[in-house]
Amino acid sequence: EAQKLVLGIESSCDETAVALVTDDRRIIAQRIASQDKEHAPYGGVVPEIAARAHAERLAPMIEAVLDDAKLTLDDVDAIAATAGPGLIGGVMVGLVSAKALAMASDKPLLAINHLEGHALSPRLADAELAFPYLLLLVSGGHCQILSVEGVGQYRRLATTIDDALGEAFDKTAKILGLGYPGGPAVEKLAREGDAAAVPLPRPLKGSGEPHFSFAGLKSAVLRAVESGDHKPADIAASFQQAAVDCLIDRLEKAIAGSPAMPSLVVAGGVAANMTIRSALEALAQKHTMRFVAPPLALCTDNAAMIAWAGCERLPLNESAPLDFKARPRWPL
Ligand code: KG4
Ligand code: ZN
Repeated sequence: EAQKLVLGIESSCDETAVALVTDDRRIIAQRIASQDKEHAPYGGVVPEIAARAHAERLAPMIEAVLDDAKLTLDDVDAIAATAGPGLIGGVMVGLVSAKALAMASDKPLLAINHLEGHALSPRLADAELAFPYLLLLVSGGHCQILSVEGVGQYRRLATTIDDALGEAFDKTAKILGLGYPGGPAVEKLAREGDAAAVPLPRPLKGSGEPHFSFAGLKSAVLRAVESGDHKPADIAASFQQAAVDCLIDRLEKAIAGSPAMPSLVVAGGVAANMTIRSALEALAQKHTMRFVAPPLALCTDNAAMIAWAGCERLPLNESAPLDFKARPRWPL
């Protein structure tokens, strides 16, 4: 059967992104525009500013990506867009653009769950990665352990009862005055610090329930900063170590409680963190699981993962109706 080409659109948070991806795993073209500059003065994403920026940038970006590939809409087999969960204004901008393109070109519309985009992204980078796999999905809005059993078949084994891990990184950065976005800044500062210097809690570590909690860790970071007793680098390193310990403890529990799975996979923006990646790799090795982590550019929000989720969904032959509603909340 001939190879298929999907145009993907991502606009659920603060990246405007467009990509063309084939179902044989080639990223033909992609562009990403970050809104970091717009949101930095506010220390976080401002939904109204995000929606406006997506609205201004998306149409020219779609044109540019098609131009980069020297293709037109006629060459595309389907239009995939993030339809939720996320900041609703931004999601609506991306979804309505996709609807217009689908209508104009008479191509199927694929309404993609952003979390499914993250969850399937490792399969874009790694042709060997087969279902099922144990997935740690860690982003700015989510912290979950999933058993990924097939396209559309996700069993949630754990989630956070309060903050997502990326959120904890971002708040720690804010408390330390490192600015926005915080994850990469905390990771960088942590390299110069002593991870054992500051005593911080490991919320829910050893708990009988499977879930994560990071709110208490964030408050402890705030108290450590306010005490004035510690170097910022030591706080960053100790925070990161506490986060790693929580992740490993909760994953150990998930592994112990599930049928053996051949691969441990990480996805989402926080998966860009090198300390977390190496801890996960060691955990996989211990359990003789293969460790799979997508390249950094596929971890943070991007449209290639949305186009790829579209490629994965094409064989299911279920296109979305043109009145499909954008969903601020949409559990996998
Ligand atoms: O997946 P993503 O781009 O957007 C969401 O869907 O949320 O994830 C963004 C999150 C932010 O909280 C950001 O601080 C975090 O991922 N992040 C990191 C790193 N790079 C991005 N956290 C820790 N270390 C990093 N290197
Ligand atoms: Zn994301």
